[in-house]
Amino acid sequence: MNEAERDLDVRLMRHAIAEARSARPSPLPPAAALLVGPDGEVIAAAHRADATQDSPELAAIEAAGEIPEGSSLVLTIEPPNEEDSESVDAILKAGIKRVSIGAIDPNPEAAGGAATRLKEAGLSVEVGVAGGEARALIAAWHKVVTQGLPQVALKLALSLDGRIATRTGESKWVTGPEARVKVQQLRAHCDAIAVGIGTALSDDPRLTVRDDALLVGGRAPSRVVFDTKLRLPTNARVVETAHEVPTWILAGADAPQDAEQILVDAGCEVMRIAMTAEGRVDVGAALQQLAAKGVLRVLIEGGAELAGSLLAGCLADELHGFVAPILLGPRGRPGAVDWAGPDKPADAPRIVDPSWEVCGKDAYVYGRVAYPES
Ligand SMILES: NC(=O)c1ccc[n+]([C@@H]2O[C@H](COP(=O)([O-])OP(=O)(O)OC[C@H]3O[C@@H](n4cnc5c(N)ncnc54)[C@H](OP(=O)(O)O)[C@@H]3O)[C@@H](O)[C@H]2O)c1
Repeated sequence: MNEAERDLDVRLMRHAIAEARSARPSPLPPAAALLVGPDGEVIAAAHRADATQDSPELAAIEAAGEIPEGSSLVLTIEPPNEEDSESVDAILKAGIKRVSIGAIDPNPEAAGGAATRLKEAGLSVEVGVAGGEARALIAAWHKVVTQGLPQVALKLALSLDGRIATRTGESKWVTGPEARVKVQQLRAHCDAIAVGIGTALSDDPRLTVRDDALLVGGRAPSRVVFDTKLRLPTNARVVETAHEVPTWILAGADAPQDAEQILVDAGCEVMRIAMTAEGRVDVGAALQQLAAKGVLRVLIEGGAELAGSLLAGCLADELHGFVAPILLGPRGRPGAVDWAGPDKPADAPRIVDPSWEVCGKDAYVYGRVAYPES
């Protein structure tokens, strides 16, 4: 393959990745397929719109109708290799001679299987085209498949002195409207949005995504409250709207049964989760439960205690911090994250390669978190 052909391959793969990103088909990974004619023109494009839809290669082949000689297929992810999957057979039947694949299936039992079958059938198969971007597209699904845990993003909106609320516990609003729009967009890319019961009681948040922020297709993110003892009242906004948007309450094994019944009657789902030695919902076990419920990506929105447990367990993959140019004090109250913390700054969890943006009057810093001690 010459350089021009390689460039075209990468350009087409990026086109397919952008197509895949237009939907959030959890618990399946985003995926897209392009059917490309002999001159590099896109004849048909298809993406997985929701979890009921199987593989976009089938839709692209069908949409193309007549397939010209010398056509190729661009796939963001390797087709499924299960016996009942029609994908490989459909590709062979369509007479396609070349397939370019972004990411290999992370499932150890399936990895590379379909690519090998296509090669053995005589097709030219290129694997890892725009590989970093294609793997990033399915990173959350990759984590669920390989670790049984969802991808976890932690959001903090804090003052310059590292506080998330005033001395009265008020946090509306620490940051400005532009930052809050960004938070809406973060929510729109998640399958669940979680808070601790402290936040649910003090802020009474709705934890929904505004319609104008729904840039991607997919079901509304579920609202999750970490509430060991089931203290959430039925007049909380998340409970009052539980029939419209899924509301999951993560409770300890010994939370009162009658409190569970009241919340269930109000439309919530109560999940009993293993507890820590301190008698709280175990965050790791809770995340496993969310993965089992089909959550690929969760946004944890605080407060300080829940954020502390998450960081103490090295469980946040990404940090999204919004820093407002204000000072809140107050003496004696915990900062944005309530935990023991490291002995030395060098041992602190940190954003490895931070991106900084100005967001209205606030600063927005985000990126992947690394835990030096782990
Ligand atoms: N600026 C911001 O971005 C922002 C965002 C959110 C909140 N806030 C502010 O933060 C304050 C609330 O924060 P908070 O720290 O008091 O409460 P929180 O973190 O929202 O909730 C803490 C409570 O959650 C329950 N929980 C269950 N499992 C837990 C676990 N594994 N780890 C930690 N907590 C667990 C515990 O109560 P049980 O033991 O009873 O279950 C715990 O007391 C409010 O003032 C709010 O306005 C600010």
